[in-house]
Amino acid sequence: MKTTLMLSLCALLASPAFAADDPVTARQAIFKQFKKDAAAMGKLVKADNFSKDEFSKLAMHLDAIAQQPWQHFPAGTASGKTSHETDAKAEIWSKSADWNKAVDNFKTETGKLKQVAANGDTASIKNQFGAVQKSCKSCHDAFRKD
Ligand code: HEC
Repeated sequence: MKTTLMLSLCALLASPAFAADDPVTARQAIFKQFKKDAAAMGKLVKADNFSKDEFSKLAMHLDAIAQQPWQHFPAGTASGKTSHETDAKAEIWSKSADWNKAVDNFKTETGKLKQVAANGDTASIKNQFGAVQKSCKSCHDAFRKD
């Protein structure tokens, strides 16, 4: 009894979002964190005194969570008749090669940002942050409802 409780508690804590039993809620929770990180980074790059350390921490966090939402897109969770809660377009599943490319491209850009934030100069960091933002937008344009 006690063991079962411990195990389920561990499973709960190990999941990236607590509501992992509902894939739509789980992925949206991670995307909300994307937005939080990106907004904080946007503030930093606009500030007069650019804090590379703070930016670097955010870039590391974003790259870590950039790996996470994609496992929460099981078939049958597109927007439409079955679900009114998601903005995921059916193209995610009907054009899965393009979807995978968009995911990979995003992960490449966040990985680069993490590297550049640790080693690069301010101009290259800002430049690479722009590339990350572009990859958010191009995926949303293709795979997310407005
Ligand atoms: C490979 C595709 C892809 C990339 C890259 C991507 N997103 Fe999204 N995003 C989606 C999809 C699909 C949804 C809709 C999820 C749903 O409603 O089920 C979404 C939803 C969101 C939401 C709404 C979450 C909610 O509360 O419902 C936000 C905010 C968001 N994304 C921000 C970002 C930011 C910021 C980035 C870049 C740092 C990003 N996304 C990168 C595909 C992507």
